[in-house]
Amino acid sequence: MKSNVYIETFGCQMNVSDSERAAAGIRSAGFGLAQSIENADVIIFNTCSIRAKAEQKVYNRIGEVRKQRGAEQPIIGLMGCVAQLEGEEVFKQAPAVRFVAGTGAIERLPSLIESAQRGGRRVLDVGERAAANADVLPMAERHSEYVAFVPIIEGCNKFCTYCIVPYSRGRERSRPASDIVKEVRQLASEGFSEIHLIGQNVNSYRPKTEDGLEGFAGSTPFSRLLRAVAATGFPRIKFTTSFPRDFHKDIVAAIEENENLCNWVHLPVQSGNDRVLRAMRRGYKVADYLEKIEAIKSARRDISTTSDIIVGFPGETEEEFEDTLRLAERCQYDSLYIFKYSERPGTPASKLPDTVSEEEKTRRFIELERLQMSIQRPRFEVYVNSEVKVLAERISAKSLNDLTGHTSCHKVVNFRGTVDLLGKIVTVRVTQAKEHSLYGEVSN
Ligand code: SAH
Ligand code: SF4
Ligand code: F3S
Repeated sequence: MKSNVYIETFGCQMNVSDSERAAAGIRSAGFGLAQSIENADVIIFNTCSIRAKAEQKVYNRIGEVRKQRGAEQPIIGLMGCVAQLEGEEVFKQAPAVRFVAGTGAIERLPSLIESAQRGGRRVLDVGERAAANADVLPMAERHSEYVAFVPIIEGCNKFCTYCIVPYSRGRERSRPASDIVKEVRQLASEGFSEIHLIGQNVNSYRPKTEDGLEGFAGSTPFSRLLRAVAATGFPRIKFTTSFPRDFHKDIVAAIEENENLCNWVHLPVQSGNDRVLRAMRRGYKVADYLEKIEAIKSARRDISTTSDIIVGFPGETEEEFEDTLRLAERCQYDSLYIFKYSERPGTPASKLPDTVSEEEKTRRFIELERLQMSIQRPRFEVYVNSEVKVLAERISAKSLNDLTGHTSCHKVVNFRGTVDLLGKIVTVRVTQAKEHSLYGEVSN
C-alpha cells in the first residue's frame, strides 16, 4: 500500500473541481486518500491567489499543520493558483514545502509526490497541461454526492486590470460539448440532482468543434450548450460565472424554455461607475449592464440575480462609490459578494496609486453591505409562508436535526429533516427569513 494523501482546498469552484480531478489521479496511481490531516503522509494545499488574504491563508495553514503534526511531519505540497504564480518562490517563503504543482500539472501530481518521497526537496512543475489530454477530465472524486461541478471552460482572456486569474489560469480553453454532455449523463446515472457548469466566464464558451452542439439552436455556443445539457433531462442545472459583456439575452430565452435550467444568474458588475469600469477594463458600461439585468428580470420566470462588487479600486472617489450604491439599489440583487480591492502583484492596476485607504475601503464595504441588507431582507421575507423546492444536500453544520440545501434560485434553506431525505428535492414551507438564508419545515 502506498501512502495516504490529503488535499485541502481554498478558493473557487474551479479549485474544488481541480482537487477532485487531482484526487482521482492520485487514487488511480495507487495512493490512498486520507480522510483527515492527522493520518495523512502527504498533504497538498490547493491554493487561491485572488486577494492578498487568500494567499496568506495557505502560509498560515502550513504553520498550523506543522505544529499540529509535531514529531511526525508529513510531506507538504502546493497546487493551484499560488503554486502557479509563485513557483520557485514558494520554497523560500515556506521551506517546509517539498513540491509545487502549478494549475497545469494536475495530471502529473502522482509523479511529483513520488519525487518528493524519494527525497526531492524542491520539486517544481509549473508547466502546461499535457497537450494530448488538455480537454479530457478523468472521472472525478466528487465533493458531494448530490451536487457536481462540471468545468466547461477554463482560464480567462479578459485581463480585468485588478485580477490575477488570467496569469494563474492561462488562456481560455473550452471542453467539447460532447464530453460535457457525456459527463452530465454519467452524473445523472450516478444519482446526482444538481450540476453547476463552471468556468471563469461560462458565456465565453467556444469549443473547437461542433461535437455535441449539432441540432441545438442559439445565438452563442454557450446558449446552445445550455440547450444541449438541458435536453439530457438532468434535474437541476446551474451555471457560473457569467461575464456581463458576453451575457446574451438568448441565455434568458434558454432558461425560459427549459424548466431544468435553474432560476439564478450570477452576473458580477464590480462597479456602478463608467470611469471605474473602464479603469478595470471590464468592457461594458453601466447602461449595458442594466440592460442585461432588465432582460433577466423581465423573464417569464422569476430569476434571481447575484453579483460581485469591488470597493476601493485605485482612484475610486466618493462620488464614484455612490454610483455603485445607486446601481445596487437599482439591481435589487438577491445576494451580493463585496470585496475590498486587494493589489495583486504584476497586474496593471497594481501600477496605479492605491488612493483609497484601508479605513475608507472598510467604510465603503460596510455602507454597501448595509444597503444590500436592506434590499435583501424584504426579498427573503416574501418567502415566509410559501413553499419552496429544496435539494437536501447535507446535515446542517448548526444542528444535527436540520438539513440544508438550495432552492432553484440558489437561496440557502435550512429545515427540520432526517438523513433519508438527503439527495431528494423536497418541498419546504418557509417559516422564517434570516439575513442570508431561509428556515422551514418539510410540507406534506
Ligand atoms: N470571473 C469572474 C470572477 C472571478 S474572481 C468575473 O469576472 O466576475 C471572483 C471575484 O473576486 C471577482 O468577481 C471580483 O469581485 C473579486 N476580485 C477579483 N480580483 C480582486 C482583487 N484584486 N481585489 C478584490 N477583489 C477581487
Ligand atoms: Fe478575473 Fe476579469 Fe477574468 Fe473574471 S473576467 S476572472 S475578474 S480577469
Ligand atoms: Fe482563487 Fe485561482 Fe479560483 S485565484 S478564485 S483559486 S481561479
